[in-house]
Amino acid sequence: MLFLPYFCVMDRIRLHDRNFKLFISNEKIEEAVRKTALRLNHDYADGDIPVILSVLNGSFMFTASLMRHIDFLCELSFVKMASYCGTSSTGQVRQLIGVSDSLKGRRVIIVEDIVDTGRTITDMYALLQDMGVSDIRVCTLFLKPDAYKGCVRIDYHAMEIGNEFIVGYGLDYDQLGRQLQDIYIVE
Ligand code: IMP
Ligand code: MG
Repeated sequence: MLFLPYFCVMDRIRLHDRNFKLFISNEKIEEAVRKTALRLNHDYADGDIPVILSVLNGSFMFTASLMRHIDFLCELSFVKMASYCGTSSTGQVRQLIGVSDSLKGRRVIIVEDIVDTGRTITDMYALLQDMGVSDIRVCTLFLKPDAYKGCVRIDYHAMEIGNEFIVGYGLDYDQLGRQLQDIYIVE
């Protein structure tokens, strides 16, 4: 086994059957995350205490970094979107798991790793509306504007990318690569 010092940045990595090359440095990501937190700090300086809903698994690293820069009072819950097969008429049904307390009347900030087509965020938005949440905002680390087909407004995004597939900083390729500090792009 090869042990790499934590400061060693690899140019190329292999995960499963694919090669990836270095795309965005950790330094650039952290700066973009810090700027996003400053916008949140401005917008949430007043009003009721919001609940941050961090969508697992991909958002764990983004959330940890974002939270360090947030200076307003907030609650944090880690949630997951689960799919199960409903009846033949309803097809696939999505459910939000991990919300223990009622969100009725609360202000919610959804924290996502990446918004691609927008399907996940659209479903989650609808589920939260059904729960009687008073205000929903979306904060994502990455947005793929050319792929986005949703109607939900993406209030905060730290970075925009093209339609490429990326891994690292919480994002995976078939469950691998989440612990990488930098972002890698598929070759
Ligand atoms: P959407 O529902 O199409 O917006 O896709 C959102 C989900 O797909 C994200 O939460 C990720 O789990 C996954 N995803 C989309 N694009 C990428 C990518 O480039 N790398 C890793 N995961 C991605
Ligand atoms: Mg995700």
